[in-house]
Amino acid sequence: MAITPPPERIWWNLPVARSEIVWIIVAFLWGLVMFSGMVYWHLEGEQNLSNEAYRITPEAYLEKATAMVEQYQVREDAGMPVVHPPPGSDVYLVARLWQWWPIIEFEKGQSYRLHLSSMDWLHGFSLQPVNINLEVHPGYDMVVTITPTDSGEFGVVCNEFCGIGHHQMIGKILVTE
Ligand code: CUA
Repeated sequence: MAITPPPERIWWNLPVARSEIVWIIVAFLWGLVMFSGMVYWHLEGEQNLSNEAYRITPEAYLEKATAMVEQYQVREDAGMPVVHPPPGSDVYLVARLWQWWPIIEFEKGQSYRLHLSSMDWLHGFSLQPVNINLEVHPGYDMVVTITPTDSGEFGVVCNEFCGIGHHQMIGKILVTE
């Protein structure tokens, strides 16, 4: 029984059974395979986003986002500004209780630097239906270089529980041909 002391007091000096040592080696080698798989799939699988992050205050971030909206707003959708920034530019999406602001319109096949930051606390950027997931923190400016490959309307769903309005925190990204 495991709760009684081992009959051999110095059990750690006993020879290890051959089958046990084989399993330890197998498990160790498999661990190495799985670990190198993470590195391999980051490079070859094109599944992980390559992103940058910088420190920024919510106030400074909101200032940049507001300036972008003032410069590139093309219309309104139910009170929410729709912006159409030029390809290659810096685009700011604001996460706050409980909205994604503003609605962004991209052009298919063009690259943008999409910035994400929160004004209050942790939100989750989940782009549907492509299923890109990123945490959006206050105090950090996360920059993702994106190139939309499909046109249409995409949803931004908050996937970190952020309070009473969490389920209503739904934004929009449009991609034009
Ligand atoms: Cu924002 Cu949940």
